[in-house]
Amino acid sequence: MTTRQNLRLIRPLVHQLHAYVPGEQPKIKGLIKLNTNENPYPPSPRVLKAVKAAVDGRLRLYPNPTAQLLREKLAKLHGCAPENIVVGNGSDELLALAVRAFVEPLVGQAPCLSRRSRTQADLSPSKEKTKSENDQTRVLRDSKTLVQYFHPSYSLYPVLADIHGSARNPVPLNGNFSLPGAPELKRGGLWDFNAALTFVTTPNAPSGHGYPTATLEKLCRTMNGVVVLDEAYVDFAGENAMKLALKYPHVIISRTFSKAYSLCFQRVGYFVGHAELIAALDKIRDSYNVNGLGQVAALATLADLPYYRANFRRIISTRENLSRALTMLGFRVLPSQTNFILAKPPVFAAKDWLQKLRENRILVRWFNQPEVKDFLRITIGAPQEADALVRAAKAILR
Ligand SMILES: Cc1ncc(COP(=O)(O)O)c(C=O)c1O
Repeated sequence: MTTRQNLRLIRPLVHQLHAYVPGEQPKIKGLIKLNTNENPYPPSPRVLKAVKAAVDGRLRLYPNPTAQLLREKLAKLHGCAPENIVVGNGSDELLALAVRAFVEPLVGQAPCLSRRSRTQADLSPSKEKTKSENDQTRVLRDSKTLVQYFHPSYSLYPVLADIHGSARNPVPLNGNFSLPGAPELKRGGLWDFNAALTFVTTPNAPSGHGYPTATLEKLCRTMNGVVVLDEAYVDFAGENAMKLALKYPHVIISRTFSKAYSLCFQRVGYFVGHAELIAALDKIRDSYNVNGLGQVAALATLADLPYYRANFRRIISTRENLSRALTMLGFRVLPSQTNFILAKPPVFAAKDWLQKLRENRILVRWFNQPEVKDFLRITIGAPQEADALVRAAKAILR
């Protein structure tokens, strides 16, 4: 079979897809890695010990299919029942399951793969819409097919919508990355209060902007579809919205062990929500979606929370020190409630800074999106890594 014939075996939807682009995992040793929001501190010694102790003949056995013990411990932690919790192979898996469980694919129409990302100006009701925009709006009117999210936020959401063949509705955040209120959303006309699924990254990525629970609650109350509050970075924030998942039947909280709990490698995340929604997700997940060592590691993590809380404090303190130091060098650093900062560098374009920092053996992240292309997203590392970044920035400016 020729390559050409082979390509015909692939669904057109998959041909058109743009895959999610993860941050670089460099092959070269000795780089300071501030590009993927990993935690600079290792898992607690108790976690490492538990994982090592589990590496024996038991590897031949399947793990617990429902992560039962882990769900029981998480339920205790959050004041709910195990039926309110589903655990995933990272929270990414659960975000994908949510699209599959709650959103209808578009039938007989091309998915909105190439929607242009809209700007704040588009919220103006007086702006005349083009024909193609009107066509797209018509597609979006079928709320059951709609994955909705604010823009910019986690760049996986549109990819998940595209994979599923559903429509996506990116709605701009305010210019300072705060959430538009319900009246503004109504006036703007882009937001769909009936969207089958709405993702809200809170605190926001890539800006680091934190959202008060009261603001999130107001938004949730206006929504008729499922709302997933993606709290991947919430342990570095002043408050979390867990109570909303326990109060409103259509609200789900997404959490991960990757960032605050130093477990990216093990891939464990979880959703908390109403039992019916959780049961729907449970029905469509792989039978053994959470690997055994991941379950062991997450359980040991929950038994050593003070170790991690001390790390949150250290990371927050490094974040504030680094923000001050970069501000003194002329960077515009946005306030952050996460383990990264979004900073607009002086003198050179952000894209050039990316390269210049790399030449100094420091990796940060740059996004080629209009709203954030003037900024660098910098993960908060250990204090000595933050110092190295400041030294490199001074050298570049010299
Ligand atoms: C906002 C947000 N949600 C979810 C995730 C995924 O985390 P996990 O490692 O649990 O799949 C990330 C990872 O970068 C993220 O930034």
